[in-house]
Amino acid sequence: MRCHETSEHAKIRELGTESRRGNLKVRPVARNKRSNLLRRKILRRKRPQEPYFYLWKTLSSARNRKIDLVRGDMSKQSIVMLSSPKGGVGKSSLSRNILVLAARAGKSVLGLDLDKQATLSTWAERRERVSAAIPDIVHIPVHRAELDDWRSALKTVNASKAEFVVIDTPPSIELNMNAMLGVCEKADLILVPCQQTQDDLDSVTPWMKHLKASGSKAAFIINRANIRAKSFSTIRAKLLAAGHVCPVEISQAEEIPLASGKGLGVMDLSRPKSAETFESLWLYLQQELGR
Ligand SMILES: Nc1ncnc2c1ncn2[C@@H]1O[C@H](COP(=O)(O)OP(=O)(O)OP(=O)(O)O)[C@@H](O)[C@H]1O
Ligand SMILES: [Mg+2]
Repeated sequence: MRCHETSEHAKIRELGTESRRGNLKVRPVARNKRSNLLRRKILRRKRPQEPYFYLWKTLSSARNRKIDLVRGDMSKQSIVMLSSPKGGVGKSSLSRNILVLAARAGKSVLGLDLDKQATLSTWAERRERVSAAIPDIVHIPVHRAELDDWRSALKTVNASKAEFVVIDTPPSIELNMNAMLGVCEKADLILVPCQQTQDDLDSVTPWMKHLKASGSKAAFIINRANIRAKSFSTIRAKLLAAGHVCPVEISQAEEIPLASGKGLGVMDLSRPKSAETFESLWLYLQQELGR
């Protein structure tokens, strides 16, 4: 008898061998008959099966419509927001690079620039000009709006049907706290860039408290990191005490401003030094967004 085989199976197998030798054709018939009988029996048991049948129907239709019953509608937009009260910490740089990551992963993307400085929109315009010369560059549309008009800006974002949206915001959060918290409410994930200085920490920690209190999903992301410096582990420990910290830190890298200056993201460059960092960042985002 073979492993995992019942005595009945063994008998049928033996008969099958016999059938091949002596044209008895026992095994296939015996097996089919049994399974047909079983199927008929199951079909006859229609009533008690009904709840399971409907559960199965719901699960399969949810799967077909890309709905994850735990996480919700998977075909809906993912909105990542970059926000920090501290200026010059990398909100726009990370916005651009995340948009490039998503676009290169085949997502339809849209950037929303809520900053008066228009750093993200200017970058997108530069990218348009560059893509006229280099057609391989993926198109990244950016919609520009005032922070005060955040409601209509978000309506435009929803109407765009873009799969992946990145919102770049101004640093002056305290000037328009309500609008900022309104946008935060619509974001699936808020990344709070922070450099490894005490000044940055003092600025971002109270903001994280606000985000947590409003029920937003948020994480710090250490930018311009120098992992060899002692301040790195000190600041990271303090950030961990204040909230979630993205496990991927972005090092101080020349290629980040270099790519931005050309309307590109780091991953648009050939053989970028920070490729692994940005690939890991993309994996992290997918995990956090449940995609
Ligand atoms: N990891 C990095 N390595 C090197 N340079 C960086 C890095 N991150 C950002 N920079 C540079 O730092 C400067 C400020 O970055 P960025 O404009 O992204 O900050 P920001 O938070 O959007 O600023 P603001 O608050 O004014 O909007 C830019 O010149 C950018 O190129
Ligand atoms: Mg900016």
